Amino acid sequence: MKDFTGKVAFITGGASGAGLGQAKVFSEAGCKVVIADIRQDHLDEAVEYFHSRNAVVHAIKLDITDRKAYTAAADEVERVFGSPPQLLINTAGVNVLGPAEASTFEDYDWVMGVCLGGVINGMVTFVPRMIKAGKGGHIATTSSWGGFMGGATTAPYSAAKAAVNNLMESYYLALKPYGIGVSCLCPIGIRSNIFEATITRPKQLQNTGYNVNEKTIEFERKFYAQGVDPVDLAHILKKGIENDVFYILPFPDPEKALKDNFEHILNYATPEGMKRQEQLEKKRREETMKNPNPMMAGAEEAGWGKAKQDITWVVKEHRISH
Ligand code: NAI
Repeated sequence: MKDFTGKVAFITGGASGAGLGQAKVFSEAGCKVVIADIRQDHLDEAVEYFHSRNAVVHAIKLDITDRKAYTAAADEVERVFGSPPQLLINTAGVNVLGPAEASTFEDYDWVMGVCLGGVINGMVTFVPRMIKAGKGGHIATTSSWGGFMGGATTAPYSAAKAAVNNLMESYYLALKPYGIGVSCLCPIGIRSNIFEATITRPKQLQNTGYNVNEKTIEFERKFYAQGVDPVDLAHILKKGIENDVFYILPFPDPEKALKDNFEHILNYATPEGMKRQEQLEKKRREETMKNPNPMMAGAEEAGWGKAKQDITWVVKEHRISH
């Protein structure tokens, strides 16, 4: 997709962080933008911003895990703008960290429900409508670099994002004949409000195995503040969509990062490789000890990425894989 003028863009998580950056950039590019988000306060703030600029933006309060509500939102888009979106951007997501072995069913159900289930709901709701409308278009999902690898403290999130990468590739292959492009945006760190994600964690999924409290949230606030600017990120996404690129990797030297990543997968496949990988990990641990990542300052004291205190079987030395 090269021309965005007059196109309807539906952006989940569009009222904050990466999604809001996307709403700004695609609105400036001429789209009629729908921002769908679970948080009314974020929606109100975003609407005020867009209205002050006379932008054509429509806000819908939507929990993307609620399939009936998703259908109603899709109907609303057609009522308001006269057609389904030509540009669908699945960006809403949540995150919480802690050792894999401390994870509860509720940690999986919440994180995977939003990050994977929410994307599936978007695809099942909109893809048939987009095909029937016959106008082609593009679908982009905000995944994560974390989807390319497991992490000792990121199990539900990494699993959801890995599945999302795979899912989007399937749609990329399937939707070509309809003139619908598909992209998967895999950022590393975004200056966003994701540190507040637990605010929208549903009551019935509150039981977590992780250490989540004011200190960890405060650490996260500072941590994510060092990430990429959402508007800059959205410009990278736009360029990727214009060039019909599947994996959009918004960081320096993505080729090297991918090669290093594939090296670890190759290493995992043989006994000799496992030894090589062990050595690599050891070297990385030593380097981190010598030159600690400044972004991680305060993580240990805050207890970020640790298990909840009453979970006694977890070893203390988990490294946070950020
Ligand atoms: P954010 O918290 O600023 O924005 C996410 C938005 O999604 C929020 O407005 C939130 O209310 C909304 N949301 C959460 N659950 C929802 C639900 N069930 N239904 C509808 N909306 C819901 O966070 P950020 O960082 O901008 O996150 C956007 C995407 O970027 C997520 O998919 C996240 O996994 C991904 N990402 C974030 C990174 C980071 O460093 N912050 C790094 C890599 C990927």
